[in-house]
Amino acid sequence: MCGIIGVLGKHEVAPLLVEALKRLEYRGYDSAGIATVNNSKLGRRRAIGKLVNLSDLLVHEPLAGKAGIGHTRWATHGAATVANAHPHKTAKVAVVHNGIIENFRELRTELTGKGYAFESETDTETVAILTQSHLDAGMEPRAAARKTLGRLRGAFALCFLFDGEEDLMIAARKGSPLAIGHGEGEMFVGSDAIALAPMTDRVTYLEEGDWAVITRAGAEIFDEANQPVARKVTQIALDQAQIEKGGFKHFMAKEIAEQPVVLAEAIQRGVANGTLNLPEDMDFSKVERLTMVACGTAYYACVVAKYWFEKVAGLPVEVDVASEFRYREPPITPNTWAVFVSQSGETADTLAALRFCQGKAAKIVGVVNVPTSSIARESDIALPIRAGVEVGVASTKAFTCQLTALALMALKAAQDRGRLTAAELAQYIADLSALPGLVNQALLIAPEVSRVAKELAEAQDILFLGRGPLFPLAMEGALKLKEISYIHAEGYASGELKHGPIALIDAHVPVVVLAPRDALFEKTVSNMQEVMARHGKVLLISDAAGLEEAGMGCWRTITMPSVPDFLAPILYAVPAQLLAYHTAIAKGTDVDQPRNLAKSVTVE
Ligand code: F6R
Repeated sequence: MCGIIGVLGKHEVAPLLVEALKRLEYRGYDSAGIATVNNSKLGRRRAIGKLVNLSDLLVHEPLAGKAGIGHTRWATHGAATVANAHPHKTAKVAVVHNGIIENFRELRTELTGKGYAFESETDTETVAILTQSHLDAGMEPRAAARKTLGRLRGAFALCFLFDGEEDLMIAARKGSPLAIGHGEGEMFVGSDAIALAPMTDRVTYLEEGDWAVITRAGAEIFDEANQPVARKVTQIALDQAQIEKGGFKHFMAKEIAEQPVVLAEAIQRGVANGTLNLPEDMDFSKVERLTMVACGTAYYACVVAKYWFEKVAGLPVEVDVASEFRYREPPITPNTWAVFVSQSGETADTLAALRFCQGKAAKIVGVVNVPTSSIARESDIALPIRAGVEVGVASTKAFTCQLTALALMALKAAQDRGRLTAAELAQYIADLSALPGLVNQALLIAPEVSRVAKELAEAQDILFLGRGPLFPLAMEGALKLKEISYIHAEGYASGELKHGPIALIDAHVPVVVLAPRDALFEKTVSNMQEVMARHGKVLLISDAAGLEEAGMGCWRTITMPSVPDFLAPILYAVPAQLLAYHTAIAKGTDVDQPRNLAKSVTVE
């Protein structure tokens, strides 16, 4: 949610800032801008829309300087206009911001009362003008920034650049992540290690409430009480190939195709010598209940996991969306483990829910993709899902890797609670080891899906149906489709259809049924017949046995490999992803950067 970059460099920084913003564009792409100090003077360029507009502007109006900050915006306060784009700048200071300043109205009224004029509708401009007011009162930049930080409420990552100061940036973190990069005679600030990757692999993550005075010689870091603190420098291993498209047209296509490899790696790490290999302190023998919390796709992964934990391990599970959980203040019983699932590990609502559970739940487990993220760092046990960098805004490989990590956890719970014989466990492990191969086979349906997608692209509404652990997959399929093709879609439990949604069925509303030939298949087929009896167009996605039994009369069918019941939700993510992808291609939408969305949601 908004990307920040700052560079105190040896050479001209504008090209470096734009390159870094390209890597941060997944955090928002409503507008972008940079500011530099050159010959002691602050200058700025901003453009609305994608970063390419800023690059074009810089061709015609270059911006010199070896110190600079940049920003790519996901709008919160104020529309995507040039005036609302960052950096926000006064005569003496420029500021980039990720997050929300909750008390900006109060500060704005106060500053307007003192005669300061505002150009934008943003909360961020308040930070720039408040700092300017402190500079006007005679404070030097550090003191002015520090005084400003003391007045701000809300969530923020901020970076300040000052007129007349070619060797100074001030960075601050509260609620939104921020990293400092260490170079040779150069220093950097970035929203994440991806932004900093080509410039440095030595990174310091600021902690909650930290702020830092950065010069080319290094960074002095202070905590919320303004005491100097030492924060460690981490060596980041980021493979450049992970953040390039590698011959694919879209990151989403690349990330869908990567699934057999990343799943194989995740499974190899989670299983050693024929037995489960999870963190030592992940012992479920005394756990009485799990509370699982997440947002969006990660939430659907939790809903699938509920079926697994309850059925295989006999462990009761509650699942919540984080934005509801955090304010509901649910009672947490003593032997409850709280599990937070997040690709980015920075989702504001999920992090707040985690903090609510600290000191209440017996253990906090973070199931994350970014191992250095806030959720990973604040969990008692951080279980990495090992999907690698996911750039496409619509989550694909992270979802299947989340599911795999949760499947391993459910098996461990079943083992710890004496619910599995050695032979049963061995069978589950053998099935898991075969999963990457099945996903590979499932990817072969792409041409078939692409043909159907061209027809689906004509629809205005699409329903997805599934039963048991395929119900959350129906919801995930609908979410994926909405996100990138902008077609309205809903996922329902097949059995719920006749309790309302069936009223929507007519010849114009395609119904996608995700139904492997499992114990619930016949029930789902009955629901499907109810749709067809009302002239509904059914796309049945099943295995050969399922299609032989029930494919007749369907509008379209897609044949999946057959799969053990336990792993069906992971395999059936593939057609859900491919359907969304190819429908979006047919509609010509922006697959990797769909409108209104951002990859990392660090505001509530
Ligand atoms: C959908 C999608 C989102 C995220 C959600 C949570 O494709 O990507 O729904 O799943 O914003 O994000 P994380 O997992 O980073 O907490």
